[in-house]
Amino acid sequence: MAQKNIIVLVSGGGTNLQALIDAQARGELGGGKITCVISSKPGVYALERAEKAGIATRVIVRKDYPDTASYSAAMLDAFRAEQADLIVQAGFMTILDERICKAYPNQMINVHPALIPSFCGKGYYGLHVHEAALKKGVKVTGATVHFVTEVCDGGPIILQKAVAVEQGDTPETLQKRVMEQAEWHILPEAVRLFCEGKLSVQDDIVTVAE
Ligand code: GAR
Repeated sequence: MAQKNIIVLVSGGGTNLQALIDAQARGELGGGKITCVISSKPGVYALERAEKAGIATRVIVRKDYPDTASYSAAMLDAFRAEQADLIVQAGFMTILDERICKAYPNQMINVHPALIPSFCGKGYYGLHVHEAALKKGVKVTGATVHFVTEVCDGGPIILQKAVAVEQGDTPETLQKRVMEQAEWHILPEAVRLFCEGKLSVQDDIVTVAE
């Protein structure tokens, strides 16, 4: 099977990007190759992680564009120039418009730090997600990897993993446990399944062929 070009979108520390880089080094991305990392912010640590791994980087900053449409058009140009087969949002904190979802149907995935449909949608990102989970007093949370559609955090669910909330958790301790126990495992696993052609979507339901 031809190599699948994976583009990873980041905005911050990039620990999920690192999990993908490490999985690739172990030969666990199912023949996929991370060919470019695109950041919505300059100077973030995720860019350093990419450079250390010898991966090309691009920085496309939201405030350099007047609106979401022109920002998304610039992103789309980059995806096409990079001949993307799969786009992975790994801690990418900028909204893209529906044209991108339409250009890459079931070819763009996102990792979200909660069990969708809990604690997701507009305003639920990063630590805010864990603050909301603790405020509600849930005893179990987790992470979800899903295909990206025009509905924020609403696309077909690929993989989920539950993580226990512990007494005395802070948003920071909970975020760390969700990353370590869930995100860093299910994101590379979903990428592998995609690259091996094992994911199919019908009526918004993902089936995994193993
Ligand atoms: C991760 O927890 C990711 O799930 C979350 O931001 C963090 C980024 O960490 N993403 C969202 O909240 C998107 N809605 P990282 O930069 O270390 O991978």
